[in-house]
Amino acid sequence: MSIQQQRFPIENEAERRKYLLDLEATLTGTDIQDPALPSTPMSVRGFDAKARESGLDWPTTALTMVGSRRLRNFRRVIEYAVTGGIPGDIIETGVWRGGASILARAVLAAHGVRDRKVIVADSFEGLPPPNATAWPADHGSRLHEYSDLAVPLEQVQANFRKFGLLDEQVVFLKGWFRDTMPTVPSEQLAVIRLDGDMYESTIDPLTHLYDRLSPGGWVIVDDYWAVEACRLAVHDFFAQRGIEPKLRQIDAIGVYFRK
Ligand SMILES: C[S@@+](CC[C@H](N)C(=O)[O-])C[C@H]1O[C@@H](n2cnc3c(N)ncnc32)[C@H](O)[C@@H]1O
Repeated sequence: MSIQQQRFPIENEAERRKYLLDLEATLTGTDIQDPALPSTPMSVRGFDAKARESGLDWPTTALTMVGSRRLRNFRRVIEYAVTGGIPGDIIETGVWRGGASILARAVLAAHGVRDRKVIVADSFEGLPPPNATAWPADHGSRLHEYSDLAVPLEQVQANFRKFGLLDEQVVFLKGWFRDTMPTVPSEQLAVIRLDGDMYESTIDPLTHLYDRLSPGGWVIVDDYWAVEACRLAVHDFFAQRGIEPKLRQIDAIGVYFRK
């Protein structure tokens, strides 16, 4: 059976594992050796297996740029929340073509979880121009100039549909995080995956979502070592809250911590 035709839930543990690993290979483009986009700002050209493992390039057609290791981390923390009884929904802030969020929905489906949502938050128009008056750390960011980062909502929905994973458990939240984060349709979160690449795009979700994170829930910071402004936002948030969670390394770029 192809991953597009998979039926849920998957009772057999080995089959579930195989489905999620096959899906990971497809979502990262590792299965077809999908080359890096020519516009990728990193110096990766063609298909470089090591770069794709660590999410160091932007694939041409595959649905996520986070790479296999960060995708696996996302799967594991969701599975931990499900099997460990940490209540709440899953949210990704910054989804691009939707690949990581598709994996999140697949994990819930594979485990037969019906009472948790995957919230998919993005402008679906790319990144905002920097507002250096409000957020000096974003001064000089040019990511808003990359049209390859603007993926329309309908395209992301079609990407979920391709895998049979577009249903009422997926909630799309369109708009700038500064406007949408106060309106997130969830009382309780188990996993927050931050992937907005800027100070503003990291601090807004953290500020509005952290209080809804269940004790024992996880925050994943995709860009921690790649974008200094993102790192600053995380530590400014910790200082504001007077917390010092232990940061755990995922790969050379991403970290995660537990509430
Ligand atoms: C690096 S991409 C996300 C990669 C994605 N997680 C994946 O699996 O490939 C960053 C995304 O964040 C979105 N984004 C960044 N800042 C935003 C903001 N302030 N408001 C809304 N969307 C934002 C962009 O539109 C883009 O889709």
